Amino acid sequence: MCAPVMAKWVWLAALLCGSQAAVLPPPWADVRRNPCAAHPKGWLMLYWPADGKCYTIYKKGHPCPDTQELSPGRWGGRTVAECKCPPGSAQLPHTTNCHKLFERGPCRPGEYFAPVEESFNMRGERQGMCVRPQQCADETLIYWPADGRCYYKMTQGPCYPGAILDVGDDGLANCTVCHF
Ligand SMILES: *[C@@H]1O[C@H](CO)[C@@H](O)[C@H](O)[C@H]1NC(C)=O
Repeated sequence: MCAPVMAKWVWLAALLCGSQAAVLPPPWADVRRNPCAAHPKGWLMLYWPADGKCYTIYKKGHPCPDTQELSPGRWGGRTVAECKCPPGSAQLPHTTNCHKLFERGPCRPGEYFAPVEESFNMRGERQGMCVRPQQCADETLIYWPADGRCYYKMTQGPCYPGAILDVGDDGLANCTVCHF
């Protein structure tokens, strides 16, 4: 899950730094692999065979479903355009809507949306599934899905400074901001 996120940020950083950075162009900037690479700013675009047009990379929505983004995928030795849920989110099989991971999302009360790890390591969909949080040793603890550990309630736990871990309206652990 980490590597694609990293790769994305490396290229975005390269964009923002512009000519300052001496970086190799991304694989989809190669005309033999991506017909759009010949267009101005074409290396920021991916070819969508269904309509023969070029679309900006990592943009949400058309030609992808609303919550998905156009991403470079590998197919054979080539770079192809794929619609994927953005990092940190996933879709249920046979649906196109992306939901944030480790929150309730599309799940029943008390369940959270967990990544199906195998699907994150392959091309194509990033899939999620609904799972019940694990039990912690006792009531003073609460399960934090993102790292699979139990933390004491009403402490900072895995939260950012200034927030404390509490039980949210959905019964799952939530970092809440305390107001005194
Ligand atoms: C989690 O905490 C935030 C910040 O205090 C709050 O806005 C949000 O409604 C809470 N979420 C749930 C599910 O309780």
